Amino acid sequence: MSLLAVEGLSVAYGDVLAVRDVSFAFEEGEVFVLLGANGAGKTSILRCISGMVPARGGAVTSGGRRLNGLRPHQVARAGISHVPEGRRIFPNLTVEENLAVSFIGARAHDNAAGALAAVYEFFPRLAERRRQFGGTLSGGEQQMRASGRAIMNVPKLLMLDEPSLGLSPVMSELVFERLAAIRAQNTTILLVEQNATCLELATRGVILQNGRVLLSGEREALQDSEFVRRAYLGV
Ligand SMILES: Nc1ncnc2c1ncn2[C@@H]1O[C@H](COP(=O)(O)OP(=O)(O)OP(=O)(O)O)[C@@H](O)[C@H]1O
Ligand SMILES: [Mg+2]
Repeated sequence: MSLLAVEGLSVAYGDVLAVRDVSFAFEEGEVFVLLGANGAGKTSILRCISGMVPARGGAVTSGGRRLNGLRPHQVARAGISHVPEGRRIFPNLTVEENLAVSFIGARAHDNAAGALAAVYEFFPRLAERRRQFGGTLSGGEQQMRASGRAIMNVPKLLMLDEPSLGLSPVMSELVFERLAAIRAQNTTILLVEQNATCLELATRGVILQNGRVLLSGEREALQDSEFVRRAYLGV
């Protein structure tokens, strides 16, 4: 059974249908990418998986267990971590306090100190800045903090909404590199991006357009698609 399966999913806001009959599934160990332009429905899909918006139709299951209808904290308990769009941070807490508030203490690390040490190993830059206030971090550092927060509880599935948004090419490269390291430690990744360079990290994925799946396939198929060449690489 798939680690995550989305079948015929629709999400609507009033009369606006943001996600239309979208289906995809992936297995443990994959980096599955949802690629699409502004307004394609990427964030809506992640928010629906994590229980923040209801599905208008269709189903989301994990290992055969239905997730629709669960509350966000129940989805988190099921081992699914969501790094939302934008970089939510408590500006007046230090980096370490920002991390510590997300510790649940359920899974591989049974104390916050152990979980913090693991995050600092992935993001040494955060360790250097542990006493600095969250609001003063650079964009890339805030993105690391957001990802660090999401991995503190060792998720089965880590979902990230545009982690490279607003970062320099060098900094996005670094964030993608860190994601590869997180994956190497048995965390499956669902990555939402507009930036086609993330495909380097992907096993498979889908391209979304106006709420629908335009193309679905292996990394190479997506990279070679005319849509990606035109829209993202400008060739
Ligand atoms: N709360 C809301 N109320 C009404 N419409 C919404 C709401 N949230 C999203 N939408 C609409 O749903 C559509 C899909 O939005 P969504 O945020 O899922 O796109 P996205 O692919 O994440 O885009 P972006 O790359 O710009 O973040 C858009 O047309 C958007 O305006
Ligand atoms: Mg979005």
